[in-house]
Amino acid sequence: MNADQVRKVAVLGAGVMGHGIGQVAAVAGYSVAIRDIKQEFLDNGEAGIKRSLSRSVERGRMSQEEMEAALSKITFTLDLAEAVSDAQLVIEAIPERMDIKHLVWKEVAEKAPKDAILASNTSSLSITKIAEVVPSPERFIGMHFFNPAVIMKLVEVNQGDKTSQETIDTVIELAKRMGKIPVWVKKDAPGFIVNRVLVTYLNDAAKLLDKYTVEQIDAAMQHKAGMPLGPFMLSDLIGLDIVYHILKVFEAEIGSGYAPHSKITELFEAKKLGRKTKEGFYNYVERPAVTEDQAKGFDVKLLLEPFVAEAEKVVAEGIASEEDVDTAMKLGANIPKGPFEMKKAGLGEEKPVLTDTKDGVLTITLNRPGKLNSMTLEMLEMIGKALEKAGKNKSIRCILFKGAGDRAFCAGADITQFPDLNPAGGRKVSETGHRIYKKIMETPKPVVAAIQGYCLGGGNELIQFCDFRLASEKARFSQPEVTLGLIPGWGGTYMLPKLIGKTLAVEMIMTGRRINAEEAKAAGLVNEVYPVGEFDAKVDEYVKNLVAGPPIALASMKKLIHSDAEMDAALRAEADAFSALWNHDELKEGIDAFNTRRKPEFKDA
Ligand code: COA
Repeated sequence: MNADQVRKVAVLGAGVMGHGIGQVAAVAGYSVAIRDIKQEFLDNGEAGIKRSLSRSVERGRMSQEEMEAALSKITFTLDLAEAVSDAQLVIEAIPERMDIKHLVWKEVAEKAPKDAILASNTSSLSITKIAEVVPSPERFIGMHFFNPAVIMKLVEVNQGDKTSQETIDTVIELAKRMGKIPVWVKKDAPGFIVNRVLVTYLNDAAKLLDKYTVEQIDAAMQHKAGMPLGPFMLSDLIGLDIVYHILKVFEAEIGSGYAPHSKITELFEAKKLGRKTKEGFYNYVERPAVTEDQAKGFDVKLLLEPFVAEAEKVVAEGIASEEDVDTAMKLGANIPKGPFEMKKAGLGEEKPVLTDTKDGVLTITLNRPGKLNSMTLEMLEMIGKALEKAGKNKSIRCILFKGAGDRAFCAGADITQFPDLNPAGGRKVSETGHRIYKKIMETPKPVVAAIQGYCLGGGNELIQFCDFRLASEKARFSQPEVTLGLIPGWGGTYMLPKLIGKTLAVEMIMTGRRINAEEAKAAGLVNEVYPVGEFDAKVDEYVKNLVAGPPIALASMKKLIHSDAEMDAALRAEADAFSALWNHDELKEGIDAFNTRRKPEFKDA
């Protein structure tokens, strides 16, 4: 069976994973039959798909017609034969019990076409063992989607001992056609890639609890190692029962070193399973959070080293390539760098702003790709210091701002810093931005912003202070503060109208409308737009030209062009207005809506 021959996908199980996979396949244009054993399960699955598709339409990711087309491709049935008899691909997402899987697969093998590809979404069971009940195990494979399947890009393509190369190639291609990024797991090994490396790391974190606290380790890994969540918050989120069971399997199949740490066993036995039981490593009466201060005294290498070592074992055991392990860990565990990339960059603290000087250019990289490079006050100060140093360094002839990764230049101020703010805190946020961004104008060197992906809010304000703005064709610009019940607070109310004229600036600021790179160019917000594939080379060329320019004349031009007697008063007024908003519920509603991913409901003033 090759990928072109696949028209219909049968999904067994309408639960969270099953209906998510069904939706993904339908959106990709396949006919889909979702089968479960109770009408109630099917109804819930159908409602879940409708909710998810409607959200995509609301967020402008899909049109109403596309949603209807996807829905028309899906049928729901209680009849296994009806689901699988004409399917070229069967994906099973039923409970993780070998006896149940065997029962279902025996029946599927009888009723599905004799050349259909049979795939299990199992995250923990052996593909080879599940395949024992089907007559042609060469057509049997693992196709492990991650939760939520609609959003997570990763699919682990897990081969059993008897899976044929043709089946592997076809499933890799099908995963791509479904908009996913597949990694090839070449050996039927417990936990495949992501669970093996991630859950071992969670266990390794617990092993450090005799010397360090839960909060200390979490704070360090989150704030200093760039992990989206610390290991204990992550264990609580996954569920300590799941973590425990996976480790028990590792202990039995890989070795005693993988036995769950006594602290994990203790919580599991006390049924303190994490978020779902409201208690685990943390108590969930209120949402726990760790601050940077709590990270003191913990060296992130203590956990990053075993993390990388486990990834190296996965490669050494022939389970996957380094590249696939990196891809799997980034996409499946939502971490900014894969273990091998971490090792290459040098294990240690991940700084949110990176600076690098080469060939007369200081590159300042906003480096929180997992948070779309959203800007914290700490980052602003780091930028300020880098600009000051560059201003005094004669060998630096040009300054270049970049965002790490290709999803965003910067998605604005870090909203998570906002909720505790009061008017004085709001003023500090605004004034810090003004003070630092003004340095971009004041430095005697030409400053260039290289913009890929989202350039929003405070990110869009940063570029307004730069001398040159170069965009990739995929760049998107907006001032979305209005959706938060806020105003631009880092100079946008003054700078944007000056740059692009009042008509479009008012529209962008008061409606939050996002514009694309071409529109930004037409409006004068950016100087150049380059194709994605040529972006880095074109930026280099542009910057090289500036480096070759006459530094004294350039500094003089910059000073004359940017001297602006009105600016300080305008920025002061903006800071006043920004801080005053913290007196109103409107802002709380806006931020709460962002955090809970809903539309804000603003009331009469
Ligand atoms: N502050 C803090 N975190 C932010 C952020 C911001 N401004 N923008 C994005 N993030 C975080 C998200 O919370 C998410 O974190 P998580 O993975 O821990 O949940 C991560 O970055 C990825 O963003 P996500 O929203 O999942 O990506 P998306 O593709 O669905 O949406 C955006 C992208 C840019 C449309 C959306 O993130 C957004 O609207 N961000 C806020 C933009 C904004 O209002 N900026 C102005 C602030 S004043």
